[in-house]
Amino acid sequence: MQVIHTIPELRDALALHRQRGFVPTMGNLHDGHLALVKQARELVGPAGTVVASIFVNRLQFAPHEDFDTYPRTLARDCELLEGAGCDIVFAPSEKELYPEPQGYKVLPPPELADILEGHFRPGFFTGVCTVVHKLFNIVQPTLAVFGKKDYQQLMVLRRMTAQMGLPIGIHGGETRRSAEGLALSSRNGYLSEAEKVEALRLSRTLKNLIARWQAGQRELAAMEADAMQSLRDAGWAPDYLTLRRQHDLGTAVDGQPLVALGAARLGSTRLIDNLEVS
Ligand code: PAJ
Repeated sequence: MQVIHTIPELRDALALHRQRGFVPTMGNLHDGHLALVKQARELVGPAGTVVASIFVNRLQFAPHEDFDTYPRTLARDCELLEGAGCDIVFAPSEKELYPEPQGYKVLPPPELADILEGHFRPGFFTGVCTVVHKLFNIVQPTLAVFGKKDYQQLMVLRRMTAQMGLPIGIHGGETRRSAEGLALSSRNGYLSEAEKVEALRLSRTLKNLIARWQAGQRELAAMEADAMQSLRDAGWAPDYLTLRRQHDLGTAVDGQPLVALGAARLGSTRLIDNLEVS
């Protein structure tokens, strides 16, 4: 496995590789990331090339968020990536990727990007789309894999790729969880042991919301308010808990595939999770 830090070196290394599977990350890797790498390997086949990027993208963090403290663990990440079958790690410095302030940005449409995560993290998806579009241009992958853990991100990037006419297949990877059911996340490292147990309440609450819908209840606003309140009662600060249709995260309606999504702060850690309704 090669670890490459500059764009010209990456272009050289990739020159002869046609089938490229790409997994963008911000590092501090866990089994969820590694599953995406393995998925990329299966999709491109043994003759294809799997590229993972590690870059903590300042553009997608608000000033009060955890950009400075976001865990940076490159050496360990590279060991894990090698074990997962990655061929090339692209880990650019900030100067390499943003040699000057990134004035040109990819602005996703508000109806997709200003709801849910985008409502609570203004500009987040502009930062994500800009860096992913730039990484796509640098790596020029034939396919890319993103986790369903970040459900809205996957949807926004899938639309970006289609609307910009990029010749890249976008694949979704299932959310990896701990044995107890906690969605793996680099930010789980911020949780105390007691908080890790409490953190399971988020997915339990989403399950409960789904169960009420499946039992025939349709008063969505009241059901969502109940879900938010039950988290508040347990000491959380929820941003949203909601049932939406999978396709565009619009209002849930009968007869269409749905997904329950939630984001909430437990102590000082903001957690997100979602569950597709089967
Ligand atoms: P990061 O949070 O590092 O996540 C990298 C990829 O791993 C994303 O596609 C994310 O959805 C996926 N992922 C995270 N936790 C997962 C889990 N438990 N199971 C399966 N997949 C999981 O998402 C980002 O970085 C950034 O926004 C990025 C796309 C790299 C742009 O900067």
